[in-house]
Amino acid sequence: MSSVKKCVVPAAGLGTRFLPATKAVPKEMLPIVDIPTIQYIVEEAVAAGVENVILIQGRYKAAIEDHFDISYELERTLKERGKNKEFEALHRIANLASLTAIRQKEPLGLGHAVRCAEQAIGNEPFAVALGDDLIDAQVPGIKQLVDCYDRHKKGVVALMRVPESQTHLYGIAAGPKIGEREIRIDHVVEKPKKDAPSNLAVIGRYVLPSKIFLMLKSIKPGVGGEIQLTDGLAELARVDGLIGYEFEGVRHDAGDRLGYLEANIAYALKRPELHDGLIDYMKKTLAAEKK
Ligand code: UTP
Repeated sequence: MSSVKKCVVPAAGLGTRFLPATKAVPKEMLPIVDIPTIQYIVEEAVAAGVENVILIQGRYKAAIEDHFDISYELERTLKERGKNKEFEALHRIANLASLTAIRQKEPLGLGHAVRCAEQAIGNEPFAVALGDDLIDAQVPGIKQLVDCYDRHKKGVVALMRVPESQTHLYGIAAGPKIGEREIRIDHVVEKPKKDAPSNLAVIGRYVLPSKIFLMLKSIKPGVGGEIQLTDGLAELARVDGLIGYEFEGVRHDAGDRLGYLEANIAYALKRPELHDGLIDYMKKTLAAEKK
C-alpha cells in the first residue's frame, strides 16, 4: 500500500509564455494531441496510488474542474447516438480521482501555490506534480518518487541532468551519492546565474512531508519576487534531510513552446493511427528544409 494518498497539482500560473492562447484557457488544458496536459498528470498520480488530487487553480481555471467533472449533456448525447466508446472514455475521466480545487488568489510563486494546500493535506506526506511537466516513463514518475520516499522516509525531489548551459533555467541540487539514482541533497538553489553546484535540475515531481508547510510559511520572496518552492526545499534539506532521485523516463516541459511541440510529436508517434502519417510529413518537411 502506498503511503502517499494525496497529490497537489499547482495550475494557477499565468502561462505568459503561451499568450494569447492562455488568455482565457489555462495552460494546463492545452492538449497533447487530444488529451489536456493536466489529464496526463492526474492519470500519473492515480497510477501511483493517489486517491485525492488537490488542484491549485487561478482565476480562469474553471475549465480544469469541468474537465474532471461529469458532463451530463455531452454524456447523454453520446449515449443517445450510440457512441459508447466515446461515452466510456469521458465518463472514466470524471471518475479518475476525487478532486479538491483550491484557489490561489494571486500567482505569488510555486512555493505559495503549494502552501495553499496546507489544510487539504493535514499531517501526511504528499506528492506535488506540476501541471505542465510531463514524464513519460514505464513506472509513473510519481510512483518512482513514492517508492524512494518509502525507502528513506524523507522528502524526495525528481532530478534530471541538464547541459551546463541550461542550469540557470532550473532549480539545481547537489550532494553526495547514496544510491544508484539517489543523492542526499545538501545544496539546492533556484536558477543559479553562475557557479551552479551541479547539473542536476529539479523537475516538477516531489514527495514531501507536511513539515514543508512550516518552511514555506517562513521564507521570503526569492528569484523573480516569487515565493520559491526551491527555497522551502533548501530549508527542508537542512532541517530534515531531502533526497534527490534521478528518475527513469523522458520529461517534456509542456509549459514551454518548444517543449510543448516536442511533446505533441512524441505522444502522437505513440498513436498507431497517427504514426505513419506524421513520419511521412516529417520526412517531407526535413527533405524540403535541406534543399
Ligand atoms: P511556471 O513558472 O512554469 O508557470 O510554473 P507560469 O508562471 O504559468 O508560466 P509562464 O512563465 O508565465 O509561462 C510551474 C507550475 O506552477 C504553477 C503553474 O501553473 C505551472 O503549472 N504555478 C506557478 C502556480 O500554480 N502558481 C504560481 O504562483 C506559479
